[in-house]
Amino acid sequence: MNSLRLLKKPAIIKLWLRRSLPVYLFVIISFITIKYGLTAYLKHKYPPIVKDDTVFGVRLPFAKRVYRERWLTAYDKWSPYFFLVATGIAGLWMFALLKSTSDVAHDLSMAALEKSDKAETSGDLSQAIYNLKVATSFSMDDTLIESMNQKIEKLKFSLSSRSALLSKTLTGQGRTEPEKTVVKQATDSADPIAGRYKKIKKLGQGAMGVVWLAEDAVLERQVAIKELPIHIAEDAEFKERFLREAKLLARLTHPNIVQLYDIVEDKDVLHYTMEYVEGQSMDQIVKASKLPLDTVLDYAVQILKGMDYAHGMKIIHRDLKPMNIMIRKDNIVKIADFGLAKLVGSSSVTMAGTVMGSPLYMSPEQAMGEEADERSDIYSFSMILYELTTGTPAFTGAPKDVITRQIQAMPERPSSRASIPDWLEAVILKGLSKNKEQRYQTISAMLTDIKNHKQHV
Ligand SMILES: Nc1ncnc2c1ncn2[C@@H]1O[C@H](COP(=O)(O)OP(=O)(O)OP(=O)(O)O)[C@@H](O)[C@H]1O
Ligand SMILES: [Mg+2]
Repeated sequence: MNSLRLLKKPAIIKLWLRRSLPVYLFVIISFITIKYGLTAYLKHKYPPIVKDDTVFGVRLPFAKRVYRERWLTAYDKWSPYFFLVATGIAGLWMFALLKSTSDVAHDLSMAALEKSDKAETSGDLSQAIYNLKVATSFSMDDTLIESMNQKIEKLKFSLSSRSALLSKTLTGQGRTEPEKTVVKQATDSADPIAGRYKKIKKLGQGAMGVVWLAEDAVLERQVAIKELPIHIAEDAEFKERFLREAKLLARLTHPNIVQLYDIVEDKDVLHYTMEYVEGQSMDQIVKASKLPLDTVLDYAVQILKGMDYAHGMKIIHRDLKPMNIMIRKDNIVKIADFGLAKLVGSSSVTMAGTVMGSPLYMSPEQAMGEEADERSDIYSFSMILYELTTGTPAFTGAPKDVITRQIQAMPERPSSRASIPDWLEAVILKGLSKNKEQRYQTISAMLTDIKNHKQHV
């Protein structure tokens, strides 16, 4: 029973006992009222009757008798039952409070998570860890607790890890002295990044930091540069993993994927230099107007081709969303940030429903803190396709509600929002199956379905 599970959490028990203060007061007041107040009142109202017994009119000196009023006698007999009733009421009251305590605990847990996220964003990792611990102590959601615990471990790791210059990391030369932890700052100075990339303008800002358009002074070409929010640990395993992942991403070369050029270090901050895409991101395009079906299908096929290629190289995007899809001026689609979530070592879910980026495109398994696979990308892509065809995101609302709905709820059928061919609706809904076994298992299967029908559009 749920209420009994609550009693396994000391923090919740304490909260319950604190909230039960009125019950204790009730018991004490009942006790005092019944035991002393009422007794005193009855004694006052019905004072004992003293009778001098007489025999033939002669008063016997030691035969004084005290008669108690009926009321007092009855009261003496029944007062224990009054206590029983009061205790019963108190018991029921405590039980009701236990039930409502679970809601209060849930709210406290969510509030602590939010605080933790804020603390993490402002760089106060110890505070973030503390708040996460508070959140776990009040949470009853095992999956959430598990992902919070993982997050705590990750934050502890970041906290303990020290920064090292990437150049040293790459060449494997450690510093002999311990270094300060990196405090990441937006590189707003006019100096070229890494002495080589001259900033031209800000292209945008995401969860990780600013993205700049810059001129590469060596190769004399334009590049986009993004800050990476990571602490390079002295830990050899972390370095190795980072390098392995970066090498894999650098090998992704496809017309529909934004090319990673290099990872450079500037003032203790790592930067990711990549192909500059002159155009708009897909979310800007969707917001501007609803796209005609043939354009949607054209974009869809290009995205799927890029994804098919990357999946073939065993790389999963993990954070596919319209903000990460660029449409070049000549209508070539370029997927950005492929595999970046894994590179920077952060799952896209943070706690309390706040997420890196948007939860609108997050697969149920990622929303539950599980590992993503190819089929998670298929889910995210289907969410994008839903939005492209209907002009509106499948779910709306506060991030934490959207996350819950990603796990539990199917969106409205696309056809109830816009006119869309039956086959396309079926493709989208299949891609959005909560159970990943029921989705398309590969991008190529989905691509084939779309291409077959596209010819008839
Ligand atoms: N290679 C690029 N070429 C041109 N513009 C880009 C490039 N990469 C990013 N941008 C622009 O910079 C903006 C911010 O990108 P960024 O990836 O930091 O944020 P995001 O995609 O909104 O969220 P997230 O940080 O979760 O990926 C994008 O919306 C896009 O307009
Ligand atoms: Mg992005």
